[in-house]
Amino acid sequence: MKVGEFHDANRKVVGRTVVHHDVLESTNETAKELLEADVEEGLVVWADRQAAGRGRHGRAWASPLGGLYASAILRPKAADAWVIGLLMGMPVIKALRHFGVLAGLKYPNDAVYQGRKIAGILSEGVYRHDVYHVVVGIGVNTNVDLEKLPADVQPKATTLKREVNLFVANDEFLDYLLNQMDDLYSRYRNTRTEFLLKDYRGQCTTIGKSVLATTATGKVTGRAYDISPTGALIIMEESGRKIEFVEGGLEVLK
Ligand code: BTN
Repeated sequence: MKVGEFHDANRKVVGRTVVHHDVLESTNETAKELLEADVEEGLVVWADRQAAGRGRHGRAWASPLGGLYASAILRPKAADAWVIGLLMGMPVIKALRHFGVLAGLKYPNDAVYQGRKIAGILSEGVYRHDVYHVVVGIGVNTNVDLEKLPADVQPKATTLKREVNLFVANDEFLDYLLNQMDDLYSRYRNTRTEFLLKDYRGQCTTIGKSVLATTATGKVTGRAYDISPTGALIIMEESGRKIEFVEGGLEVLK
């Protein structure tokens, strides 16, 4: 059920309108349904919990009450769902740091604190009536007790509540996050993507680390070396051979 709608005319695109629901199956799915109507770019769908939250690689995203679940509708200049999803990791990290968690950005867009995931992004490209849209969904473990997450997730996850003594309300976190996302998106619209990818490279804590990547074609170990112009992670094997990694499992070894 819709429980509210907010407007912020100071934002350029992202979060000028935020539609708040108590519970949805998935904010990404609701955002996609809205694409049928002539919905404004930047509209954000926010839910207090999700009954069927989705993560990357077809995984489930546990979405109990207390966490932050929101999706923004974008109509970018190019079919850039992947790159936008990558870049949106930066505002998420900024927001977490602002509220006291010195999280790092694990490739592609996981916010991680001391090796434990605290936020994730699912960015999906969708055509509606020949118009390309991107739905960027962000899930942050804000006011969640670790015990409310599935048992297999708990050892690899953390929450804002667990790491910070101060209580941070979800509307306050979302407000700050949307300001950062709006700034990033406006840079995306006005700057060449390669400049933004340079910024991303500087903030991605995976760069320089030894990694084990698992792809459809096998396993690769090497040093995370660079970000390609399309947003792939370039891994340099010990032999000096460079591999471009995009989708699959990525373990940071040291
Ligand atoms: C991941 O790291 O696997 C991505 C998680 C993305 C979760 C968010 S929560 C809001 C939006 N709605 C969804 O169903 N998924 C995204």
